[in-house]
Amino acid sequence: MPRATILEDDRFPLGAADLWREAVGEAISERSAFRVAFAGGGTPRPLYRALAAEPELAGSWRRVRAFLGDERPVAPSHPESNWRMLAESLLDPVSLPEASRARPRSEEEDLERAARDYEAVLLEGTRGSPSLDLVLLGMGPDGHVASLFPGTDALGVEDRWFVANRVPQLSATRLTLTFPALRDARAVWVLVGGDKGDVLARALGAGDQSLPAARLAGWERVVWIVDREVARVLAANELKVEPLGAMSGRGGRA
Ligand code: 6PG
Repeated sequence: MPRATILEDDRFPLGAADLWREAVGEAISERSAFRVAFAGGGTPRPLYRALAAEPELAGSWRRVRAFLGDERPVAPSHPESNWRMLAESLLDPVSLPEASRARPRSEEEDLERAARDYEAVLLEGTRGSPSLDLVLLGMGPDGHVASLFPGTDALGVEDRWFVANRVPQLSATRLTLTFPALRDARAVWVLVGGDKGDVLARALGAGDQSLPAARLAGWERVVWIVDREVARVLAANELKVEPLGAMSGRGGRA
């Protein structure tokens, strides 16, 4: 199994902005656009705010197409909405045009329909796959990524890019990218900090397949960006951790 690319960000998660600068520049010069599926949750918010405030990126936002990797079954105005967090911390501050934003309609009663509609949006203008340049993810304490939670049906989906996923442990249905959509992306960055070192070590070291994140362990295009605390635990589990600066010049690609 190829070795996972694990980077310690001593400014976690702000160091990812250095990788972003390279990745967006390459995408725009090669493909005139940067298609990103953003992560929800709390970890990425400081990174989004830093990206919004980065003067060097000001000219690039008109080429960015913003998607969401997963969403809770709430309206975009709800305090728990991933879209609301993304819009408040990044899309609104950079005045990303509405036409460059694509939000799953998580307020709908029929979330299956909402998932299919969003899947169609992901495929607009592509050659049959979402062709995302970057998927940003966090990881939960149970090893979930996006809304691919342990023991849920979406883990086994291979013929869809975006689905409604019943999550019994949340008593809720979530909207989420599938593993095929993550595999299809040019790059996947997973931001993992705090007390998740043991779970990540089980996913990347022991290959504990009860953890959805373990499915990404052998993927060449995945970069794990971790804070100092997680890096320490991973190193103690004999996993190779490099300084994030080591990735610069590779455009955030593993
Ligand atoms: C969500 C996210 C979820 C998140 C992880 C980590 O809807 O919460 O999609 O996958 O990335 O749960 O969350 P934190 O970054 O808040 O730890």
